[in-house]
Amino acid sequence: MARLDVIEMFHGISFSGHLHTQESLQSALKFPFQDTDILIASYPKSGTTWMQQMVTLISSRGDPHLNQTVPNWARAPWLEQYYFAKALEASSIRPRVITTHLSYQLLGPALQGSKAKVIYVSRNPKDVVVSYYHFHKIANFLPEPGTFQEFLNQFLEGTLHFGSWFDHIKGWTSHTASVDNLLHITYEEMSSDPHGAVKRVSSFIQCPLVENEVNNCVHYSNFSSMKDNKMVNYTLVPGEIMDHSKGSFMRKGETGDWKSMFTEEQNQYFESIFKSKMQDSTLESKSHRN
Ligand code: A3P
Repeated sequence: MARLDVIEMFHGISFSGHLHTQESLQSALKFPFQDTDILIASYPKSGTTWMQQMVTLISSRGDPHLNQTVPNWARAPWLEQYYFAKALEASSIRPRVITTHLSYQLLGPALQGSKAKVIYVSRNPKDVVVSYYHFHKIANFLPEPGTFQEFLNQFLEGTLHFGSWFDHIKGWTSHTASVDNLLHITYEEMSSDPHGAVKRVSSFIQCPLVENEVNNCVHYSNFSSMKDNKMVNYTLVPGEIMDHSKGSFMRKGETGDWKSMFTEEQNQYFESIFKSKMQDSTLESKSHRN
């Protein structure tokens, strides 16, 4: 299944045909969640892989064996991707860890009535767009990004793959009441206080750890460990799918990198769109945009 140039349109949102089919997207919406499932939800480039690493390390009580021998997409497969059912069946990790980039607007009905624990990871959207831009340059299953200005316009219009960042974050975070078990954690929190983040996640998934185990989770999920771990740095993906000569998945791992890319004008434009799109949301203080 290469389909590198194929784009699947689903509910008005574009998805890469390399990883998604109409059938895989349809079956995600009907997935029978179990109450014990852990679902990591995020907009792309928000720290998804980092959270996959953290959660699977916590489940292993800080033992890195699994994280050094099984790729992240097999440990915590993406619900909407075509290989999901097989990967989930093959995985021995309990509780099951599932990942999704789908919006709450799409996945909400499948989650209704389930007590699956949802961890929503968000990141400063300015850093998201910069990271996504660089990722488009190396991922041959994504369209050519064009100039950064063109890419930024598409991000703000919500026409990139996986749709609007604004709809995504508002959808997931405004339903905390109906999705009973939802933990919202930011990339910035994980970055500034990794011990605190591991403790929050471990207590949320009801897997309390002793200090030494917390330290191991922090160590094996830090940027340099993950950059060197081929089970999580995507170097296992063949060059025709991800062109590793053009950059790495584990690119910088920083907060505030947008400043190296945005002009003052782009920043002001971004701020004005952010204000108008987020005026019906209470999230302003949570998303660190500096
Ligand atoms: P950058 O491109 O800014 O470096 P996702 O997994 O959602 O696709 O997000 C990828 C982004 O998270 C990349 O951002 C990547 O470097 C960063 N990342 C992954 N693991 C990280 C870690 N342990 N610490 C900090 N950043 C990490």
